[in-house]
Amino acid sequence: MKTYARTDEVFVDGRGAVLIDNLGREYLDFLAGIAVSALGHGHPELAANLRDQVGKFVHLSNLFRHPYTEQVALRMCRLSGMAAAFFTNSGTEAMECALKLARKAMYKRGTPQRSSFVGLTAGFHGRSLGALSLTHNEKYRKPFGPLQDVTWIEPEDFDALEQVLTKKQPAALVIEPIQGEGGIRELSHDYLRAARELCTKTGTMLVHDEIQSGCGRTGIFLAAQHAGVTPDVVTLAKPIAAGLPMGACLANAAYAETFDKGDHGSTFAGGPLVCRAAIVFLDEVDRGLLNNVQVRGQQLRAGLEALAREFPIVREVRGRGLMLGLRLHHSAAEFQKALYKNFVITNCTAGDVIRIVPPFVITEAQVNEGLSRMREVLVTMPQETATKDRKEIHS
Ligand SMILES: Cc1ncc(COP(=O)(O)O)c(C=O)c1O
Repeated sequence: MKTYARTDEVFVDGRGAVLIDNLGREYLDFLAGIAVSALGHGHPELAANLRDQVGKFVHLSNLFRHPYTEQVALRMCRLSGMAAAFFTNSGTEAMECALKLARKAMYKRGTPQRSSFVGLTAGFHGRSLGALSLTHNEKYRKPFGPLQDVTWIEPEDFDALEQVLTKKQPAALVIEPIQGEGGIRELSHDYLRAARELCTKTGTMLVHDEIQSGCGRTGIFLAAQHAGVTPDVVTLAKPIAAGLPMGACLANAAYAETFDKGDHGSTFAGGPLVCRAAIVFLDEVDRGLLNNVQVRGQQLRAGLEALAREFPIVREVRGRGLMLGLRLHHSAAEFQKALYKNFVITNCTAGDVIRIVPPFVITEAQVNEGLSRMREVLVTMPQETATKDRKEIHS
């Protein structure tokens, strides 16, 4: 089906933060398959572990035990302060699990009328009917109604937050601590703390969607940990299994026992292959991988800020760690295409933002090279500073 706008080049190989096409041309990968390939490409230990597992069994189903699911669950819960995990095959499915968990919790509590959800404008949570209900962009939702009952509030509007949670009494508040598709927009620590307090006060389940910002992308395991905030439920995916399809819905002790046997399930999820990959990723985290995220993130941000000072077309640098955005004064599509022609892979979010989410293993030299290629492109661009209207940017 014609759902994707793919580029023409065919990629055939990769190593670290470099991808190689069938003509032998090397591209700096500043996108990591949309914030996924944390260990880069061609990681030897990942390859060895997957090869070993493929030689044993690839699939088992969740009817039987293998040594890896419980290990990954325990380690992820420890890193995120949660008590139980449900594994999925994608971020979207992790969101579905969180939404069902909220409904079930309200049902068990004797308040099944608390079935609605609250989300933030510009939020993105996936494209299945449940996750899509909370994805704000009208373009994604409009043809697919009717969807679930969701109330939208603007990020950072503290009054709206209090009003909606007290008056509407939803099942859950769903927020991304750093909005990814929304343009790498970080919520303030005060807002995250207020959301935590108000959810506790009103008995609303607080869901942090850290599918893009989590698993160490901002330099610590969860982005909300920078604010010292722990949600009731956190959803993870993208880098979790170093590129293999895996997601997780983690719940704290208050919600860990909400599902009863048979309430939710998945044939493939938490299988041995993805769990072996997740263990390789978690081992790298234990060995200090996130120090590289912090150091390279600072280097990249400093370089982007220097570009913002030099080129008037650059409006703002956003984000944290290796989840960064370069916001322009107009559509970023042209810049993104020119970067790609200059062998730097990025993508464009929210119309005017270049998203930079490289592998966690990116090197100092690769960061410098990427920045210098960005500069090469910026010097060729007209330096318009008048901000175009949002409609024009999105079209
Ligand atoms: C914050 C967030 N939530 C959910 C999703 C959906 O995840 P997936 O594409 O793995 O289903 C994404 C994907 O981009 C995301 O960034």
